[in-house]
Amino acid sequence: ATPIILDVDTGVDDALAIAYAIRSPEIEVLGLTTTFGNITVEEAARNSLIVLEKLGRSNVPVAKGADQPLKRTKTEYPRHIHGEHGLGGAAWSEPAGRLLSEHAADFIVRQIRSRPNELTLVFVGPLTNLALAVRKDPGIAALVNRVVIMGGAVRAPGNVSPYAEANIYSDPEAADIVFRAGFPLTVVGLDVTMKTLLPRTQVRHWREQSGELGRFFADMTEFYIDFYEEGYPGIGGCALHDPLAIGVVIDPSFVAEERMHVKVVTEGEELARTAEVPGEEPNVGVCVSVQSERFLEHFTSRVI
Ligand code: BDR
Ligand code: CA
Repeated sequence: ATPIILDVDTGVDDALAIAYAIRSPEIEVLGLTTTFGNITVEEAARNSLIVLEKLGRSNVPVAKGADQPLKRTKTEYPRHIHGEHGLGGAAWSEPAGRLLSEHAADFIVRQIRSRPNELTLVFVGPLTNLALAVRKDPGIAALVNRVVIMGGAVRAPGNVSPYAEANIYSDPEAADIVFRAGFPLTVVGLDVTMKTLLPRTQVRHWREQSGELGRFFADMTEFYIDFYEEGYPGIGGCALHDPLAIGVVIDPSFVAEERMHVKVVTEGEELARTAEVPGEEPNVGVCVSVQSERFLEHFTSRVI
């Protein structure tokens, strides 16, 4: 199995990504690291513990990370998308599990150093924890097997501005550091994730067929689908942004990657744009197309 560290801002689609990873034998989750983004970092850490508990996997370590972007102040969170507490409409109670005392960035550095060239890092929130890790130890960029991020919109329009995708927008300076650090980086952006839609019928099926866990995930996800259907009339479901990053780790043939040079814009009207710079040495592989149906079938066969 591929050993991964999964960095999350849990969040509905983050929770679905955690479930997909935990339930896939091709992947071994060494730990979750958490960041601000969809909600505060405290809430992300708590929600991650809750989701692991629901999945019966409280043995997976969770490390809390950055509570703010590197150079900016974040005060507003998209609670209309992921719910008041980040878990949509799902009922929850305080988790029994404890967080590691180690900071997420230290956890990431330590794990990479103890298993050189073996780890895959999957980042599905703002890239702050990875930027902090590479600042502490620039050598880690050459010591990972692969980094897969959900973030950016290279050819597709953004979702917080015409150019910017939410994870990059939440900490553009961190993304800039990560894109220039020399990681073997795959970008799973809105170019592909807006094409992987989970329909409401599937969520109803969870509710009716899959007991308490099915109801928990259905209550969570229906809230997220309501947002998508209001924001994107006729879309027919919610985007599986973060789960697709896990899908790419399980089976790279779900997507087609194109090598290119991508630069993160850190100021001006195009703030947080992940811009293709033709003619420059490629620094990332950008997912440009996706076999949506095959991915969706695989995701739904695993997740609950
Ligand atoms: C990304 O932003 C967050 O709202 C989601 O969890 C996903 O990681 C999509 O732009
Ligand atoms: Ca996320």
